[in-house]
Amino acid sequence: MQIQIDPTRLQSEIEMLATISEAEPPAVTRIVYSDVDRRARSWFIGLCEAAGLHSRIDAIGDIFVRLEGAEPDLPAIGTGSHIDAIPFAGSYDGTVGVLGGLEAIRAIKESGLHLRRSIELLLFTAEEPTRFGIGCFGSRLLTGVLDSTADDNLRDSEGLTLAQLRQQAGYIGSLESVRLPRDYYAAFVELHIEQGPLLERERVSIGIVTNIAAPAGLRISIEGEGGHAGAVLMPDRRDAFCAAAEIVLAVEKSARGTGAIDTCGTVGKCQIHPGAVNSIPSKVLLEVDIRDTDEQRRNRVLEEVKDACARIASARGVIIRLELVNADSPAHSSAGIIDAIVEATEALGLSYKKMVSRAYHDSLFMARIAPMSMIFIPCRGGVSHRPDEFAAPEDIANGTRVLAHTLAHLASQ
Ligand code: GLV
Ligand code: MN
Ligand code: MN
Repeated sequence: MQIQIDPTRLQSEIEMLATISEAEPPAVTRIVYSDVDRRARSWFIGLCEAAGLHSRIDAIGDIFVRLEGAEPDLPAIGTGSHIDAIPFAGSYDGTVGVLGGLEAIRAIKESGLHLRRSIELLLFTAEEPTRFGIGCFGSRLLTGVLDSTADDNLRDSEGLTLAQLRQQAGYIGSLESVRLPRDYYAAFVELHIEQGPLLERERVSIGIVTNIAAPAGLRISIEGEGGHAGAVLMPDRRDAFCAAAEIVLAVEKSARGTGAIDTCGTVGKCQIHPGAVNSIPSKVLLEVDIRDTDEQRRNRVLEEVKDACARIASARGVIIRLELVNADSPAHSSAGIIDAIVEATEALGLSYKKMVSRAYHDSLFMARIAPMSMIFIPCRGGVSHRPDEFAAPEDIANGTRVLAHTLAHLASQ
C-alpha cells in the first residue's frame, strides 16, 4: 500500500501549534474555550481547508474533519485526540494524535487509494480536566456518559457554567445534539505519546493499547479551626492542613497497598484557606485522582480513602466532606482493531508491544460506542504533563505511518 506521509510538514505543524499557548515556551498552556484555544482551533481548521477537507463543528466545539469514502452512509473509521493542554504542559500530549491524524488523512487522500468507508478526524473539546474538574467532557457528551444537565452542572473555578462558556466561545445549539449514534463509527483509533517509559526503555517503536485504566475523582473538603500561628497552643489546634496531609499520605498508602503496578493515587490540587504564613489553615480543598485498570481494585482504594478520612476527622476534630466527581469504568480494546494495528506495524517493519494505557484518553469513552484501540509512540524518559515532554520526529512519523495504514485498511472493509 503506497501511503506517503510528510514528516517535515507534520513536525512544523506540531511546533507551530506549541506556540499558540498562554505559557512561555517550552511550556504549553491551552485551556478549553480560552482565547488561545480558540486561536488554535481556527488555525487547525485553516489546515483542514487548505487540504481540501470538509469540517463540521458541534455544539460544544468538537471538530469533525471528513475524508469521504465511496459509501459515505456506512459507519466511518474515526481517529483523533485533543489540543487542550494542562497548565505548563509540553507540546505533544494530544497534539500528536490530532496533527498526526490530519497528516494520515492527507496522505491517504494524496495516495488516491479507494476507500469504502469515510475516515473522520475528531478534535475533542477538552480531554484535560483543568477547566471543569472532570476529564474528557467532550467525549463524555459524545458518548452519552454526560447528558444535557452538564450545561448547568459543569462549572469552572469562577462559577461560569458550560452553557455560558461554550456560548461565549461561539458554540451554540443543544447539548443533546452532541451525542453520536452507536453506529456512527465502525472503529476508532487514537494516536498518542505513551506518557510512560516502557517503549523507550525497551527500544520498541509502537505500543498497541489493549486496555485503558479508568480514573475516579474525589473532592475532599476539610474544615478545621483557624487562628494565630503563634498564639493558639499546639494541643488546642484543629489544623485543616495537618488533616489534609494525613489524607494525602493515606491516598498514597492505599494505592501502593494494592501491590499492583496499575493502581495510582495522586492528590494534585490543594487549596488552603486563608493561605497566610502566620495563620492556622481553617479550610482545605483537595482534589484526588485514583485510577486502575481493575475497577474493583480501584473502588477498594476509594473505600479505604473514605475510611481513612473518617478516622482522621475523628482523631483531629475536623469536619471532612467527600464528593465523588467521577468513577469511570476501564475500557478494553477490540481484538479486531488490535490486529489491524499489528498488521500495519509489521508491514512497515516496525517493532511493537501490546500494552496498557495508564493515562486516560478520549478513547476510554469512545470504546462505549465503537470498537477501539490506540497507537502509542515513545516519549523521552516517559515524561508528560511537563514542559520538557518530548517525542522524536522519527517516532511521531512512525506512529503516523502506522495510523495511516491502519485507517486505510479499516476503511477498505
Ligand atoms: C490525561 O491527561 C490523564 O490525566 O490521564
Ligand atoms: Mn494529558
Ligand atoms: Mn492526552
